[in-house]
Amino acid sequence: MNPNKALWQKGDFTKVAALMRRSGEGLLQSLGVTPPLRALDLGCGDGTTAVPLAQLGAEVTGIDIAANLVAAGNRRATEFGLTNLTFHEGDACNLQGVADDTFDLTLTMFGAMFAPKPFEVAQEMVRVTKPGGRIVMGNWIPNDPTSFVSQLLKISSAFTPPPPEGFISPMTWGVESHIVERFGQAGLPAENVSLAKDTFHFSGPGISPTDLIASFRLFYGPTINAFAAAEANGKVDELQQQLVELANAQNQDTEGGVSIPATFMRVTVRL
Ligand SMILES: C[S@@+](CC[C@H](N)C(=O)[O-])C[C@H]1O[C@@H](n2cnc3c(N)ncnc32)[C@H](O)[C@@H]1O
Repeated sequence: MNPNKALWQKGDFTKVAALMRRSGEGLLQSLGVTPPLRALDLGCGDGTTAVPLAQLGAEVTGIDIAANLVAAGNRRATEFGLTNLTFHEGDACNLQGVADDTFDLTLTMFGAMFAPKPFEVAQEMVRVTKPGGRIVMGNWIPNDPTSFVSQLLKISSAFTPPPPEGFISPMTWGVESHIVERFGQAGLPAENVSLAKDTFHFSGPGISPTDLIASFRLFYGPTINAFAAAEANGKVDELQQQLVELANAQNQDTEGGVSIPATFMRVTVRL
């Protein structure tokens, strides 16, 4: 199986997504969405942003490479009674079947950054977005000490074997020069690309930082892989300890729950 698909079908990302819902809703409020509007949520998971986008009245298509998350998204759309939201399987590197100039808004929160061919991804997002429309990406920033996920992935990668030759790190989507180059090759000048740092929170009442790491260990593909590799090397306890230390150090909740900030690069591209 395509390793990109296999990675995200592992575990059950919906359990991690459940800790991101409030920030997903907050992000949507900040986008100034005014229907009528056709929107694509790319790498949508089970709809952390696609659901609130549809609740605001947009006509939303969610596309994700993981079949289990597409199914979970469609279940959530039904639960919420949203007839203006459908989820489909697809690959951000090649959005075959999606016509040119379809969407007013293409949104991808920590989704398209994980597709292995970033230049193709930029090209495809530009192709399916209407002239006059916009693309909004949320991307983790490499080596950012204020980004929980960036730090979690950095720790995890120290326990996993080096990636295959030619692998482009998803984290490069958090670096201005790469972002500008990718959209430049897709035909958009640097003036059309604006960047701002923003923050998502992983939050859950009544859970501890250790519980949060347990969720990542059980349900988040990259962390599952890191623990499998650590197991093979007898380093599970070391990995567990480093991740729990990280979660404890970054937890801002003072009422016995978890609220961990994660800075990301918010990329807005005008077409
Ligand atoms: C960290 S999750 C984020 C999900 C969702 N956007 C959210 O904020 O809850 C990354 C998502 O990107 C999806 N993804 C990874 N590679 C992809 C690709 N090549 N094409 C489409 N989706 C992809 C994964 O299946 C997963 O749902």
